[in-house]
Amino acid sequence: MTMASIETNEFGLQTANGSVDIVGVSKFFGDVVAVDSIDLRVAPGEFLSLLGPSGCGKTTTLRMLAGFENPDGGSMYISGREVSALPPYKRDVNTVFQNYSLFPHMTVAENVAYGLRQKRVDKKEIARRVGEALEMVKMTKLAKRKPRQMSGGQQQRVALARALVNNPSVLLLDEPLGALDRKLRQEMQIELKMLQRDLGITFIFVTHDQEEALSMSDRIAVMLEGHIEQLADPDTIYEDPKSAFVAGFIGQNNFWQGTATTRGLKAYDGTEIESAKMQSGIGAGSAVLACVRPEAIEVTSTDPGSGANRVAGVLAGVSPLGDIVQFVVRTDSRELLIRAPRREAARVLPGDPVWCTWAASDAYVFDSSQSDLVLVDPTTENAPSGD
Ligand SMILES: Nc1ncnc2c1ncn2[C@@H]1O[C@H](COP(=O)(O)OP(=O)(O)O)[C@@H](O)[C@H]1O
Ligand SMILES: [Mg+2]
Repeated sequence: MTMASIETNEFGLQTANGSVDIVGVSKFFGDVVAVDSIDLRVAPGEFLSLLGPSGCGKTTTLRMLAGFENPDGGSMYISGREVSALPPYKRDVNTVFQNYSLFPHMTVAENVAYGLRQKRVDKKEIARRVGEALEMVKMTKLAKRKPRQMSGGQQQRVALARALVNNPSVLLLDEPLGALDRKLRQEMQIELKMLQRDLGITFIFVTHDQEEALSMSDRIAVMLEGHIEQLADPDTIYEDPKSAFVAGFIGQNNFWQGTATTRGLKAYDGTEIESAKMQSGIGAGSAVLACVRPEAIEVTSTDPGSGANRVAGVLAGVSPLGDIVQFVVRTDSRELLIRAPRREAARVLPGDPVWCTWAASDAYVFDSSQSDLVLVDPTTENAPSGD
């Protein structure tokens, strides 16, 4: 998806069906700045995820687009129309929530038909569109069931059909898979992504699950405290995090706190780190954080000699994880997490003295003013996540 192909009007706003432009939108709840003047452009047919920890403003952003919440500033355009003054049902969007919110006393077909009945759409037309929507989510056979006679995954399909039956150009999804168990969730991720591609509908998908966002999205907006910290495709978010927060929230990382040098960082634990990926604007001597991904670290049993980007320790743990192996290396002051191809496991044994090394191109150095958000020990915990 290239931004170059986007049609815009004389104000630089998109005009095509399925486009979304959010311009300087804010929302306050008393003293809380839930959404802090965000700008976001979503292209027609794009799968865009809003990803971030609990309370960062994802749901509020979505609710404003849907029309359930009024912004305190800024403007929003859906399919080229300013929507702030429009009630939810006049916007070219539909929303799918985590809790399905189906009517318990209605059958599947009645639930899906409900909105069209309210709009007094012709009976035959309703039957045709409900049939199509149920087909899309593979629920035709269960059309006569009631919600309580179905699994969570099936209920979520019905909720999806109920949104799709209105033919929206934009679908808003707020943690739609959050209530499902892991395996079903992964199956639904694949199905949902295929459905989105087939229908060509724009998806704005809220999740606090970084793996979900990485696997499904064309682009991800990583949110923190009401603003967008980084907006990019999944590879860029993973490989070129813009801040310590993004580096800590997406995937796993080994962190060092220390003082900036001209070429990297001198960690408080004595480790010297040379970095080819230093955030710009960092002055020598300032407090910084360095991080290196587990898969970027090499473990060897031979001393690599002096220099930067090396740590000596003892191999404390070896966990085979299918095609890869995870090592934990314990130094005097900390533990490092390393992931390597499975065959590497044969070369070292628990208890062995080992050295960890990495390339300057794999070491990132960031301003550490957000350090409280990222200092999660990667050997004991996964990246921070929301509710
Ligand atoms: N109706 C509300 N009244 C007061 N505060 C709210 C309300 N809705 C959300 N908030 C606050 O706004 C911030 C953002 O919330 P939300 O958008 O729900 O975050 P997320 O969906 O990312 O978890 C949080 O601090 C939350 O407590
Ligand atoms: Mg939420």
